[in-house]
Amino acid sequence: MDSLPLGLYVHLPWCERKCPYCDFNSHETAQIPEQGYISQLLKDLEREAAALGDREVSTLFIGGGTPSLFSGEAITALMGGIAARLPLAATLEATMEANPGSAEADKFAAFHAAGVNRLSIGVQSFQDAQLQALGRVHDSDSAHRAIDAAKAAGFTRFNIDLMHGLPEQNDNQAKQDLHTAMELGAPHISWYQLTLEPNTVFYTSPPALPDENLLADIQDVGEALLAEGGYQQYEVSAYGRVGDRCKHNINYWSFGDYIGIGAGAHGKLTSHDGGVRRYSKTRKPDDYLSDSGFKRVGEKVLNAAELPGEFMMNALRLNTGFEIADFTARTGLEWSAVAETVEQQIARGLLEQSGNTIRASAVGRRFLDTLIAEFLVEP
Ligand SMILES: C[S@@+](CC[C@H](N)C(=O)[O-])C[C@H]1O[C@@H](n2cnc3c(N)ncnc32)[C@H](O)[C@@H]1O
Ligand code: SF4
Repeated sequence: MDSLPLGLYVHLPWCERKCPYCDFNSHETAQIPEQGYISQLLKDLEREAAALGDREVSTLFIGGGTPSLFSGEAITALMGGIAARLPLAATLEATMEANPGSAEADKFAAFHAAGVNRLSIGVQSFQDAQLQALGRVHDSDSAHRAIDAAKAAGFTRFNIDLMHGLPEQNDNQAKQDLHTAMELGAPHISWYQLTLEPNTVFYTSPPALPDENLLADIQDVGEALLAEGGYQQYEVSAYGRVGDRCKHNINYWSFGDYIGIGAGAHGKLTSHDGGVRRYSKTRKPDDYLSDSGFKRVGEKVLNAAELPGEFMMNALRLNTGFEIADFTARTGLEWSAVAETVEQQIARGLLEQSGNTIRASAVGRRFLDTLIAEFLVEP
């Protein structure tokens, strides 16, 4: 098979303060061991690169944690080190996550000069009361300043992360946040519904969240507002015009390949014989810092029973769905492996087919977990 598009994910696992709703691999620290960590990342990458031949990387995503806590010098060293170890596409999309603290906005120009060409700014809300309820370290003013700084630094492509369904939020407040992001000219908006994740403070001490009816109202008014503003929904939580969409994430959802480096980073690679392999890296930052082998933890080749579920879990998140030929090319399975289930879900109204394209219907998108479960193997 032809090589699939290849992305590179780099995980920087530290934050100024752990947010009470967050279950990402992120750890509070006062001092980041920048040099030691960048050096480990590059060794990790070297091992990965050795197995890849000359496959070109088309997208890079530096996520966290809070990558913008790193200095401009550290990100310059990281970007240079990556370019020295892997062939990068001339059109490389290089995204970095940033929190809207003022110390961080001061570094945006340095990140841009280092080769980062897309910022994803974690605003969450433009309302101070809501930011406090979420335990964020920044206020609305600093979010505005960070967006100004991103534009001044030359970022023509940036994303604003917003969450909705926040403690005691009503639909007007949720609308107001979207309005502000649109007024500020965000080319892309990620609009996530707050979820209570196990192992978080919010899970053990839940705040008062909007009830189901209000959540559905917020979803409806928000989607309508985004559509009016020209932000096309292309994935469950992602909105933007075609040229502004996040190519790195689209590659995940299209079941493309990606390398993962850094503490707890995940990777997925497809080999020439069609085998699809998933792995992750040592999760705890301290263990990763002292790791000399960069062993892939939990490495596993997906079997024929697991592949349909893994594919659908990604591809059905995209509003455009997928082409039948891509299912075969990316899983190595015949269409007959899922044809009957697909037919059943079309009959149920959860999937729709047009020519050779399959996608979730509007109802299917609302009950996406139920739909995907039809393709998962029984435990
Ligand atoms: C990797 S996180 C963090 C990026 C950055 N550190 C920040 O917090 O601004 C990416 C995004 O996921 C979203 N997110 C995190 N936890 C969430 C949760 N429990 N429910 C919904 N969205 C969540 C937030 O919008 C966040 O900006
Ligand atoms: S939401 Fe962002 S800033 Fe907060 S703990 Fe998670 S990764 Fe860190």
